[in-house]
Amino acid sequence: MTERRPIRSYVLRQGRMSPAQQRGLDEGWPRWGIDFDANMLLDAHALAQHFGRHAPLVMEIGFGMGEGTVTMAQQRPDWNYLALDVHGPGVGSLLKKLEEAAITNVRVMRHDAVEVVERMLGSEILDGVHVFFPDPWPKLRHHKRRLIQTPFVHALVRCLKPDGYLHLATDWEDYAQQMHAVLSAETGLAFIDPKGYVSRPDWRPLTRFESRGMNLGHGVWDLVARRRDAEPVAEGQKGIPS
Ligand SMILES: C[S@@+](CC[C@H](N)C(=O)[O-])C[C@H]1O[C@@H](n2cnc3c(N)ncnc32)[C@H](O)[C@@H]1O
Repeated sequence: MTERRPIRSYVLRQGRMSPAQQRGLDEGWPRWGIDFDANMLLDAHALAQHFGRHAPLVMEIGFGMGEGTVTMAQQRPDWNYLALDVHGPGVGSLLKKLEEAAITNVRVMRHDAVEVVERMLGSEILDGVHVFFPDPWPKLRHHKRRLIQTPFVHALVRCLKPDGYLHLATDWEDYAQQMHAVLSAETGLAFIDPKGYVSRPDWRPLTRFESRGMNLGHGVWDLVARRRDAEPVAEGQKGIPS
């Protein structure tokens, strides 16, 4: 029987790597890259070894060309950033920027975030997760490719520390509504604002995709939720089937 191919949230384009991006990849990967390996658990201990220190950790999924990642890492040198993307030229571009700006608090993975989270990341290791402007997949028949889906968010919650946060942003209104529905239904999360949506915090850099969306007249929706532990079951209710 042939194995069914998973539905991915991206299509790998054969985008050409510029010589500078290729150099970023060649020189930066051995210093800042972490290879995907499903047999290698990325827990707090392994991460501290990769970063060379213990510090609060944010994972960014889909950093594009990495401009926002660099800005955030410079804003908070006392935090660690684990940056994930699948697009080679973008990975090369981020690595090049890290080298140029001598940034030491970012580590990079070039792999599907769904697999990294499901097969490699330990539990309760992340203080925050950023998913800024994930591919919108606007056509209805492509909605199944959208990254923010119930099973993936559930898997992310496992990796968040108690009170760790998940911050999503999109410029597609119906994707914002989908994000809102998925986060609302996740019992391991609670919105920091009852409405679910918040204004863009000052520290979140305006990204390339966001600027493009705004030029097209799109709105922007930010959603932030924190991990909360499930309500403790009252003594008298234990054993009652739901
Ligand atoms: C629309 S771009 C947004 C980039 C950036 N966050 C910004 O706002 O400019 C989405 C990015 O997510 C990446 N991506 C899509 N699915 C991914 C996945 N499953 N794992 C890692 N990266 C992914 C794409 O390669 C792309 O770089």
